[in-house]
Amino acid sequence: MTSQPIEQFQIQPMEAKDRQDVLLLAESLEKFFPKNSLPVLEALLKTQPTIIGTTGKNVIGFLVYTLRDRETAEILWMGVDEDYHGLGLGTLLLQSLETILDEKGIYKLVTSTLSYTVPYEPYEKVRAFYYHRGFQSIGVEQNYYDTGLDRIILFKDISKTRSRTL
Ligand SMILES: CC(C)(COP(=O)(O)OP(=O)(O)OC[C@H]1O[C@@H](n2cnc3c(N)ncnc32)[C@H](O)[C@@H]1OP(=O)(O)O)[C@@H](O)C(=O)NCCC(=O)NCCS
Repeated sequence: MTSQPIEQFQIQPMEAKDRQDVLLLAESLEKFFPKNSLPVLEALLKTQPTIIGTTGKNVIGFLVYTLRDRETAEILWMGVDEDYHGLGLGTLLLQSLETILDEKGIYKLVTSTLSYTVPYEPYEKVRAFYYHRGFQSIGVEQNYYDTGLDRIILFKDISKTRSRTL
């Protein structure tokens, strides 16, 4: 793990030139994203808004989201380079998304990930990441993934955590 200070991470919208770097980053997270899911990500990167985190030089994090309706957005994919896990970049990406949504008056944020009903250690930390940042479980969908595994659906009302000026 690197010890780069958090203030050196830069958060910005993804541009077409960054797409391949995001795909390579996702490919490196093989514990989390099976290889056969990467074409889905590739298609989403062409159509859905994406925020990236960089060192100023290299892409080390990404967050793909979509606007579901006038109140709701969904995080579709999110990942941080394993060398940089636990240094705050995932939090920065999430905060950046919440700022964008708040400006649009969107306050419901949903996402889903591998369920706690599936015993697979790497995803315990992923669920902890979301729980510690205000997401709550609103249900488990059995046999959701191609592999027959369950997903957990997570929800956050971002209007409850953002400070508002009158
Ligand atoms: C989930 C993920 C995006 C978090 O990014 P991150 O930059 O490591 O997160 P931060 O440093 O901002 O926050 C660390 C928190 O994440 C959790 N976490 C997840 N994986 C971690 C790891 N390998 N090391 C340390 N903390 C980890 C910890 O619970 C920690 O929570 P806490 O601060 O409340 O104690 C990142 O771990 C990741 O890319 N995981 C693999 C891909 C994935 O599963 N994406 C989500 C499902 S689509």
